Amino acid sequence: MATDPKPLPLERIPQHVGIIMDGNGRWAISRGLPRLAGHRAGVENLRRIISACVEFGVKHLTIYAFSTENWGRPPEEVKGLLFILDEVLDRELAELHKEGVQLRHIGWLEGLAPSTQKKVLQAVELTRHNTRLVLNVAFNYGGRAEIIHAIRQMLADGVTPDQVTEDVVNRYLYTAGQPDPDLIIRTAGELRVSNFLLWQAAYAEYYAADVFWPDFDKAQFRRALEQFAGRERRFGLTSAQIASS
Ligand code: IPE
Ligand code: IPE
Ligand code: MG
Repeated sequence: MATDPKPLPLERIPQHVGIIMDGNGRWAISRGLPRLAGHRAGVENLRRIISACVEFGVKHLTIYAFSTENWGRPPEEVKGLLFILDEVLDRELAELHKEGVQLRHIGWLEGLAPSTQKKVLQAVELTRHNTRLVLNVAFNYGGRAEIIHAIRQMLADGVTPDQVTEDVVNRYLYTAGQPDPDLIIRTAGELRVSNFLLWQAAYAEYYAADVFWPDFDKAQFRRALEQFAGRERRFGLTSAQIASS
């Protein structure tokens, strides 16, 4: 019988994990299925990873579900992805709430259909006091659009040049009040950022998994956390400084 893996070092669990859930399309095509079947399989996988976050003690999870650039995909795929978001909100909300998940949205909400906006806002409202896991859903999200949005808001609020600090910028981002991501995972073997959390990930550790997102299971997730636990984060300092701090 297989023995249980070594426990993860509790003090080295990332507080905030971001995931670029990539490879749904290729997962489907490799099975002779339509791309949307891959997106559905991707949603199924999300359940496993949410449970794993709760089990391993990750407190914030940000998932990249639809980028500002994804609008350029074929219209049927875009329509399918929007439909899946609506469906997931209807179908999974009660269970997520029961599990203590606090749902948040990051991205340009007003760019979605009014009925979807309403569902998202209701889900956020319903779960706002939950504390087990904060789940940020990045849908219609782009890092550059987020920064532009923040700059516009700051100007509209009359923030003066000398008042612009990192703390102030943080407060104007969609992730206001949340810790920066410690670890960004990307599946499907791609080594790029694709406009995800550009500001917030300034000092995140990156991890690339070779498998497509629907195949990224709890064991794979654990491997990412293990590798993260073994990394030395220096934040611009030297190893000696880190060792003596
Ligand atoms: C990620 O999977 C999900 C979205 C971008 C919506 P993809 O759809 O990008 O899958 P590939 O990269 O084409 O395989
Ligand atoms: C990034 O994946 C966006 C999401 C996972 C939602 P893409 O598949 O859209 O990224 P590129 O086009 O390969 O960079
Ligand atoms: Mg992709």
